[in-house]
Amino acid sequence: MTRRDIIKDLSIGNKAEAYEAFDDIPTNPNLNRTIGDVINARYGRRNVLRGMLGVTATTTLFGTSALVAPNRAAAGGDKGRYDFDELSWGNDETHHIADGYEADVLLRWGDPITADAPEFDVMSQTAKAQLQQFGYNNDYVGFTALNDEGSRGLLCVNHEYTNEEVMFPGLGRQDRADFEGMTKALVDVEMAAHGGSVVEIARGADGKWALVRDSAYNRRITPLATEMTIDGPAAGHARMQTNADPEGMTVIGTLNNCAGGMTPWGTYLMAEENFHGYFWTDKLNADGKPDLSGMDEAVAKSNGRYGLPGMWYAWGKFHDRWNIDKEPNEPNRWGWIVEVDPRSPDSKPIKHTALGRFRHEGAETTVSKGGHLVVYSGDDNRFDYQYKYVSGGTVTEETAVFGSPLFSDGMLYVARFDEDGTVAWLPLVHGEWPLTPENGFQSQADVMIDTRLAADLLGATPMDRPEDAQPRGDGTAYIMLTNNSRRTADQVDAANPRPESSFGHIIEIKEDGGDHAATFGTWSILVKCGDPAVEEVGAQWNPETSENGWFGSPDNCAIDADGRLWISTDQGSNWGKTGKSDGLYALETEGDLRGTSKLFFRCPIGGELCGPYFANGGETLFLAVQHPGTDGTKDFKGFERDSTFEDPATRWPDFDPAMPPRPSVLVVTKTGGGKIAG
Ligand code: FEO
Ligand code: CA
Repeated sequence: MTRRDIIKDLSIGNKAEAYEAFDDIPTNPNLNRTIGDVINARYGRRNVLRGMLGVTATTTLFGTSALVAPNRAAAGGDKGRYDFDELSWGNDETHHIADGYEADVLLRWGDPITADAPEFDVMSQTAKAQLQQFGYNNDYVGFTALNDEGSRGLLCVNHEYTNEEVMFPGLGRQDRADFEGMTKALVDVEMAAHGGSVVEIARGADGKWALVRDSAYNRRITPLATEMTIDGPAAGHARMQTNADPEGMTVIGTLNNCAGGMTPWGTYLMAEENFHGYFWTDKLNADGKPDLSGMDEAVAKSNGRYGLPGMWYAWGKFHDRWNIDKEPNEPNRWGWIVEVDPRSPDSKPIKHTALGRFRHEGAETTVSKGGHLVVYSGDDNRFDYQYKYVSGGTVTEETAVFGSPLFSDGMLYVARFDEDGTVAWLPLVHGEWPLTPENGFQSQADVMIDTRLAADLLGATPMDRPEDAQPRGDGTAYIMLTNNSRRTADQVDAANPRPESSFGHIIEIKEDGGDHAATFGTWSILVKCGDPAVEEVGAQWNPETSENGWFGSPDNCAIDADGRLWISTDQGSNWGKTGKSDGLYALETEGDLRGTSKLFFRCPIGGELCGPYFANGGETLFLAVQHPGTDGTKDFKGFERDSTFEDPATRWPDFDPAMPPRPSVLVVTKTGGGKIAG
């Protein structure tokens, strides 16, 4: 069968579903955990370690927090800790926010962001123009202030991917069997629309934020034109070398930048997520799938574990570096965490290979009790893992800088969630059994390039798609598990308790001693998502949660200035199972109301909610509406067709008949000022 036949065979209606069918397949062959049992013996059970290290239990299993979270005073009160009237659930062509708040569009796809940038001309887009305009599909949003008042600052925004069917006139959704309509010019526009934006914004006397278009800080970062360097264990390694870069030290660009993070010193971290989707091969087997059979065995094993090549885009038809037949090492240069210095517009971003290579969802940072930098990052694939990185040195005036040694001197750990409520963080260190030459790891570079294979050998717990992970200063971390429809009944475990999970769940980790650098902690399930009124769903919420408040598919999250948790959702093709649009929810973590959720904001139809990011002590909230008009618009009453440029499900936010929907960043403030939900 050709790929075209497979697409027809599976009745794949939209791109999101096509992604699932072809590319978000489990690539972890290590699901029975027998090797993990061996590792248990190697690292010992928790109690053994406790005895050795003299660590005492600080938290209780599956209970409420035993560690004091910030500002829990209002927990258990009538209104809880979030003081706003809940929004009603629904789904229509525009966005909605709770009464008493304003959600203003700040930046749209195509907005000129430099003084020289041309105005957006959607009918004749060029890569040259797009390189100076706001990119597509805004995802992570970060902010770093430029003055003490917080009235000027730099907004850092990821542009994760592109949707050709609603970007370009007369094109339609491309058949992934041949990408017939794609030209090099369109591919270059797509490449220029990926990556990130750094822009200066300022708050006027009316309290409203606006772009400072002529700011010298404003820049685009793209896989088309931004040179970056590589540091850490894999820098310069033979597996990182290509024809264009024989030293293995320089890469043009970053892509599929999903979530990210800001460092304590105000640099911007961009996570490279679905990098596999951009690689191409001309060698297909009889099923129309990439044929890895002629490949070196070790390379095929490595590529297979990452789902390479994914062939989601036509870039490999026009650029050799995306074609693994021509540049077999190129994929090794993607799937990393990239650091950008937003205050230095001429600086080259850095790919930090000590944080491992996988489908990094995000890279949220914190500082441990002992002063170490800690970065939590999930690997967003069915049955993949949760990681954290702990620096060797501590955060000081000397190390709190762009390109810090803290990003190369540390250790990457992968999580094993034990049935007894313990989380063990297993170090990925070359030479430590089983990460040895006999198992294919010649050096720490191999361990980092093949992070997934290394984590398999350590017996990490295969999770239900780890999305964003958010640490809080008290040693707590929240892990979003978005869904996993492929987990079977005999594959469930305590940390992934539902088979065929369409709605996901959230895990709360309490690190030992309230210290994010700890190698053990405890975990509990905060909520199991989905409709609590449908018994078969098996949802678990605080009964105070209303029909508006429950949600499915947690994805991104944020902690506000008062330590409170906010969750944004991405239901993708599961959207039809809830009928609700994606949105932002306030989720209680403390006291009697723990597990109670309230709806604060909802997206226009087909949009996924990204960000969220709180700034100005909680008075400003940035939200990113991604791919409005696309996901799940088919088969919903009133929107019974896939969106195209000419016929989209919504034309949000402009509602101009000549303009397709535009992914946009919103800024939320309280009417009259003050803390959001405070
Ligand atoms: Fe790009 Fe895992 O969301
Ligand atoms: Ca995400």
